[in-house]
Amino acid sequence: MMRTAPKNIDVYIAGFPDDVQAILKKLRLTIRAAAPDAEEKISYQIPTFYLKGNLVHFAAFKNHISFFPTSSGIEKFQNELSAYEGAKGTVRFPLDKPIPFDLISEIVRFRVKENLERAEVKRKMGTTMNEFDAKANDWDDQPFRRERAQAVAAAIRREVPLTKQMTALEYGCGTGLLSFCLQPDLKHITLADSSAGMLAVLAGKIAASGLDNLNPLKLDLVTDPLPAERYSLIYTLMTLHHIRETDLILRSFFTLLGRPGWLCIADLEKEDGSFHDPGFDGHHGFDRAALAAQLEQAGFTSVRFSACYEVPKRGRHYPLFLAVAEKATNSHFPESQGHGLPDHANHA
Ligand SMILES: C[S@@+](CC[C@H](N)C(=O)[O-])C[C@H]1O[C@@H](n2cnc3c(N)ncnc32)[C@H](O)[C@@H]1O
Repeated sequence: MMRTAPKNIDVYIAGFPDDVQAILKKLRLTIRAAAPDAEEKISYQIPTFYLKGNLVHFAAFKNHISFFPTSSGIEKFQNELSAYEGAKGTVRFPLDKPIPFDLISEIVRFRVKENLERAEVKRKMGTTMNEFDAKANDWDDQPFRRERAQAVAAAIRREVPLTKQMTALEYGCGTGLLSFCLQPDLKHITLADSSAGMLAVLAGKIAASGLDNLNPLKLDLVTDPLPAERYSLIYTLMTLHHIRETDLILRSFFTLLGRPGWLCIADLEKEDGSFHDPGFDGHHGFDRAALAAQLEQAGFTSVRFSACYEVPKRGRHYPLFLAVAEKATNSHFPESQGHGLPDHANHA
């Protein structure tokens, strides 16, 4: 009964008797309503809904309709589907019994959520990390990066009363250019980054330097639990604009600081989107007033900005600010107990 390679879902459905067509049309509308952003196509010669990967398929046979919500869809709804025959990834709905459209809708919504979450994890692991892993070995070859680190170190020294008693966290350290400048002023620095490639280059530099006050740490504050350690200073250079979850990161920084504590963010002033290549999905720099409001919302006080460097790129110069914010000794702003995101509850 099922024909081979119809060119679209209309043609597929048109190939069945009227009573089966009516069921298939209702099934298609049910799936569409539950996954309005999904694309309709034919895959494996059967109707397919696609959203960041295959979502569900269906097919009609002489006595039943097969619904393919992938094995995770079957597993998740195994109790509800126990009345039906099926196999791994497939369930059969007999044509002589009512089709459970509400259940189908629920399964499709589950699959949408699952595909979107997987795509997000892939985006984070695949684009952010690979981009920097690939650049790690040559990162220090660009003289402007060393010059930028020196300029930002000088700006931090101007703004924060650094002492040899202070422990610091650099977040998004790359190869550690900034921390190598600041380490003589501080007791100890933890250098955190999500890129294994950057951290490998950094580890080599630390070993070659013989310094014993620098420690690399693989850390992504968007997905990892917060470290137990607390710091007197956190600084970050050209990293925040790569991370979409600014509020989450600022709250994490606030929690990771002792009292008193200083946060220094060196990053791009708001720009027109020309700094990165097309497809970049981070921030096109930051508006100072908006970032100040976010810092205050996270609990910081005494927020101030100064200009600290201009990055040369493609014949243009992109200004960087240094934002300094304090976690005051006497503030009673509550410590963050979690991300505010459902999936990472242990972020205390
Ligand atoms: C533009 S580079 C800057 C590196 C270094 N701060 C410098 O100025 O040379 C951005 C760095 O942020 C890191 N990064 C990006 N997203 C991150 C995240 N979610 N958590 C930790 N590090 C991240 C990248 O791996 C990269 O090393």
